[in-house]
Amino acid sequence: MCGIIGYTGREAALPLILGGLERLEYRGYDSAGVALIEDGKLVVEKKVGKIRELVKSLWGKPYKGKTGIGHTRWATHGEPSTENAHPHTDSKEEFAVVHNGIVENYLELKRELEGEGVHFRSGTDTEVIAHLIARSYRGDLLDAVLEVVGRLRGAFAFAVITAHEPNRIVGVKQGSPLVVGIGEGENFLASDIPAILPYTRKIVTLSDGEVADITPDGVNIYDFHGNPVTKEVMEVPWDIISAEKSGFKHFMLKEIYEQPKAVGDTVRGLVSSGERPPFSLKEFRRALIIACGTSYHAGLIGKFWMEKLTGVPTEVVYASEFRYADYPVGEEDLIVAISQSGETIDTKFAVNYAKDKGARTLSVVNVVGSSIDRESDFTFHTHAGPEIGVAATKTFTAQLAALYYLASLEHDEGEKLLSELMKVPAKIEEALEKSEGVEKLADKYMKKKDFLYLGRYLSFPIALEGALKLKEISYIHAEGYPAGEMKHGPIALIDENMPVVVIAPQDRVHDKTLANIEEVRTRKGIVIGVGFEGDDKVEKLSTEFVGIPSVEEDFTPFVSVVPLQLLAYHIASKLGLDVDQPRNLAKTVTVE
Ligand code: F6R
Repeated sequence: MCGIIGYTGREAALPLILGGLERLEYRGYDSAGVALIEDGKLVVEKKVGKIRELVKSLWGKPYKGKTGIGHTRWATHGEPSTENAHPHTDSKEEFAVVHNGIVENYLELKRELEGEGVHFRSGTDTEVIAHLIARSYRGDLLDAVLEVVGRLRGAFAFAVITAHEPNRIVGVKQGSPLVVGIGEGENFLASDIPAILPYTRKIVTLSDGEVADITPDGVNIYDFHGNPVTKEVMEVPWDIISAEKSGFKHFMLKEIYEQPKAVGDTVRGLVSSGERPPFSLKEFRRALIIACGTSYHAGLIGKFWMEKLTGVPTEVVYASEFRYADYPVGEEDLIVAISQSGETIDTKFAVNYAKDKGARTLSVVNVVGSSIDRESDFTFHTHAGPEIGVAATKTFTAQLAALYYLASLEHDEGEKLLSELMKVPAKIEEALEKSEGVEKLADKYMKKKDFLYLGRYLSFPIALEGALKLKEISYIHAEGYPAGEMKHGPIALIDENMPVVVIAPQDRVHDKTLANIEEVRTRKGIVIGVGFEGDDKVEKLSTEFVGIPSVEEDFTPFVSVVPLQLLAYHIASKLGLDVDQPRNLAKTVTVE
């Protein structure tokens, strides 16, 4: 995890770096730091806590250096502390390094350096990079970095500056993301594009095994052997305005309300371009959907659509479980990787693994130019725009739209299905309107310690997603379960203190779900029923009823997830928690 940024140009680097770090904070926020070249000397400032703590500690300090690097951390090696915060320096404090990822052989390198008398000040893997570069330095930072990268194992990206060459940053990408921003008389490095979008829209995405040598006047890219690499400069279409809160209290709430647009833009983007993979789904013996977290839940829904509309047997696997499980995969398989960030390391490794085995890979990705986007044979982009809240919301429904599009592509009535899909954004809009009463439910149930979420068929993944949303931002224990499985164990949990959210749209399993609601009532559980507006049966059986607009069975997940997102949001917000940056989490998970 962690976010890194670098600037070299004609302006004071510090404000630009701090602004970028704030936009990168979603990647980790247990400590932060900057290193600047001030009058030919390296200065380093670090602070435990969020970026605002670092900003406060810098008030009144007149730094004017025009080259610098910054870091926001999500601890992997070494607890969150000032010593372990980045940037890390060599013993003479002439080189500073910020790093994202893991240097797997750092202990071996550390022992080697300690044997030469180097004293380590932190418990991080990063510090070895600074000492190694200092040891290899013979007047050219790029040469020193190229000498060192061959010694490092793992997935990482880092940026380094040195007091010896005040207008230069060298950045390395190997497994973790790193992009270069091209400006006029200034250039940037960052872990992702939104970090530098206010400054430039001209971006070069580095590939694994590449090194960027950056000065205010130019950017040169090399491979790890020092051979020049020619890269394409892309113009980013996003508008930074869409990354502001626009009057909402939190990004998460804004993003929940952006879902009609996210889904609409995604469907329109795909339909108008007529995007199609360069192969037929029907050529495969099966499709394997691979994803993590919320994207995995989207995959569970995608499986039902794939099997119903294409007839291709489809499995859904957690990316983190895939690579190490001797999963039989080969040329007859289509891998569908789903990832908002396109950088989740588990998903990326799963894609690489499947590709090595000869499978074809199709990804559903929100961040254009991300690793999974580039490494897949074909990508459907969700046009949800940047998602800043750590909890995924609009990207989930946008992923659903892309998956439905994929499943309907080769269906005889594909066009009709897609014209129905086009009506979904208006239905989500209605779901948002109808969910206004959810805030009152949050008041009533925010003190509960456990929640159960139940659903069947397409509503089971929604139960999982509702439970995930609640636990990750409110820290309340919540479990999602197939409603019909409850009687095989979890029903024992139900008593008068247990809120049970039951997702019960009028679908093929409606009667069965009603029976499951009865089972909860009989055990005195508090039923929060989510059903089509006007569904008296669900309403009568529920302690609380949340109406959602009536839609075709296939589209129920798009509307039933909305009140669940809002319930989690309002509970967390009322508990006074940091909704957009929940504890222990990061938006992009680049560790295994
Ligand atoms: C939950 C959430 C995470 C992500 C997961 C995968 O709200 O956001 O569970 O869904 O970390 O991330 P991506 O989709 O970027 O691969």
